[in-house]
Amino acid sequence: MDTTGKDWRSDAPLLRTERLLLRALALSDAPRVKQLAGHPDIAAVTTNIPHPYPVALAERWIASHEPNRRAGRSLELGIEHRSMLVGSVSLMNMAEGRANVGYWLGVDFWGRGLMTEAVTALAEYAFETIGLQELRAIHMWRNPASGRVLQKAGFRRIGAEQRTLNGRIEDVVLYRRRRGKMRL
Ligand SMILES: CC(C)(COP(=O)(O)OP(=O)(O)OC[C@H]1O[C@@H](n2cnc3c(N)ncnc32)[C@H](O)[C@@H]1OP(=O)(O)O)[C@@H](O)C(=O)NCCC(=O)NCCS
Repeated sequence: MDTTGKDWRSDAPLLRTERLLLRALALSDAPRVKQLAGHPDIAAVTTNIPHPYPVALAERWIASHEPNRRAGRSLELGIEHRSMLVGSVSLMNMAEGRANVGYWLGVDFWGRGLMTEAVTALAEYAFETIGLQELRAIHMWRNPASGRVLQKAGFRRIGAEQRTLNGRIEDVVLYRRRRGKMRL
């Protein structure tokens, strides 16, 4: 549930779920982002998170959020659980009623259903408040936990292909969820 009630471009939403608060990241979160996202197990299955992950990169990433949000290009939110930052979830490449969903969670918090809760909340916000018509996501075939998150959040598998990611050929799986079509 959005507790801000303002336009998402000018003020990032605060989305509350049973166990989570999704909120804009601040520059002061950069050391925590470095600590969480800098884990090698996260770099291994994502395309844009290096290992090691310098704090300056976390700062640059966070600094890009507001201008991208104001331009309507993306919405990146931190995930808080028990008042601790534990990960992030994003709508990226927003255009023509569509966006791609991306996410990562600190390894200590895996396996508790937290990312399913976060992606479900952001998808509802994307459809109901932003007014998007379609969300897409991809994951590496060797990262089935991410596919399971998408399935549990109502996405449907629409294909698979090979892509060159970080200089390696990877099998990737493509998912889509359309507005009003929750598929469990
Ligand atoms: C993928 C990721 C976000 C999952 O977060 P999470 O909070 O642990 O996910 P959830 O607990 O909501 O759901 C995970 C599901 O995957 C399943 N799972 C975990 N490991 C699995 C595996 N090796 N094979 C198949 N399913 C697996 C879990 O059992 C669970 O499904 P279930 O509820 O049906 O049992 C987290 O592992 C992560 O951040 N990974 C690194 C970054 C990443 O992969 N980002 C996405 C890039 S596309």
